[in-house]
Amino acid sequence: MRAFFIWMSRSELFRRLITGFLFVRRAARRFVAGETIDDAIAAIRTLNASGTLASVDHLGENVESEADARRATEDYLAVLDRIGIECVKSHGSIKLTQLGLDIGVDFCQENVARILRRAKEIGTFIRIDMESSEYTSRTLDVYRSLRREYENLGIVIQSYLYRSKDDVAALCQEGANVRLCKGAYKEPPDKAFPHKRDVDARYVALARMLLSDDARAQGAYTAIATHDPKMIDAAKTYIAEHCIPRDRFEFQMLYGIRRDLQQQLVREGFTVRVYVPYGAEWYPYFMRRLGERPANVWFVLRNLLRE
Ligand code: FDA
Repeated sequence: MRAFFIWMSRSELFRRLITGFLFVRRAARRFVAGETIDDAIAAIRTLNASGTLASVDHLGENVESEADARRATEDYLAVLDRIGIECVKSHGSIKLTQLGLDIGVDFCQENVARILRRAKEIGTFIRIDMESSEYTSRTLDVYRSLRREYENLGIVIQSYLYRSKDDVAALCQEGANVRLCKGAYKEPPDKAFPHKRDVDARYVALARMLLSDDARAQGAYTAIATHDPKMIDAAKTYIAEHCIPRDRFEFQMLYGIRRDLQQQLVREGFTVRVYVPYGAEWYPYFMRRLGERPANVWFVLRNLLRE
């Protein structure tokens, strides 16, 4: 089912068909803060009031023209300005294919540098999301090249990729700020573990590497991004056993998912950051979320029955 929804997320025909339905647009609002900057800021404000931090994502990926990539860059500058003006607690999450990676690495890097400069001015942090494996090396190259100049930059690693163990080892030595997730794209078995149990086992192993004394001594910071209670418990156990200070890691979850668990972690005194997607291009993001959990499809269909 996951593969089917990932395939749907790439289909222009289905995008046009599905986004036309009011009940789908209504259901998407559970996972997407809305279409405008005002919607995003309102969602961040609500999260902040409940003790959680945010990382805002202006939805969009795989742009094909320089004009579209520049427009996406301007949109990010605008949302950063609002974060600064409204004093809400939020980082930014960006996708390189939205900022022109398919057009050219240098061009993309210039756009990201503009975003980083503005983020630095308002005292916030930018994280580069990880997309499908065809982009992993280029994404890490852009990250490393910009990280030399900008300290307010972090990266994402996906535990389902075989290569991630080596990538994490290198990032630990570099003292990187890494968000660890399982991975949301369809990958072939020569690149990624096909079975969930292996993805989960690797997730725990990579989290331990990132949280280790050695990695922390180099300055590493870990964002444990998952809704899986088993992953969270494994991280908490390692953290307690190694007396890891709470300012060296945080938990992250997606907007609208496991709000109960988000609040439980806040009550336990952990830092929790919620990824807040907004924008008109919500279709591929929404399809990936549907593929992750069959119950989400019933949630959409219930919205149809309510119409
Ligand atoms: P898993 O899929 O095993 O789910 C465990 C449990 O969590 C489920 O049983 C269910 O209760 C709940 N759950 C999970 N997904 C749900 C959903 N969609 N709806 C409702 N409940 C759900 N991926 C990527 O490739 N690149 C990236 O940059 C990022 N960035 C990112 C940021 C943040 C903050 C998070 C939390 C996740 C990502 N991801 C990502 C997505 C990630 O790779 C993964 O696809 C999802 O987090 C789902 O995996 P879980 O770790 O939650 O576990």
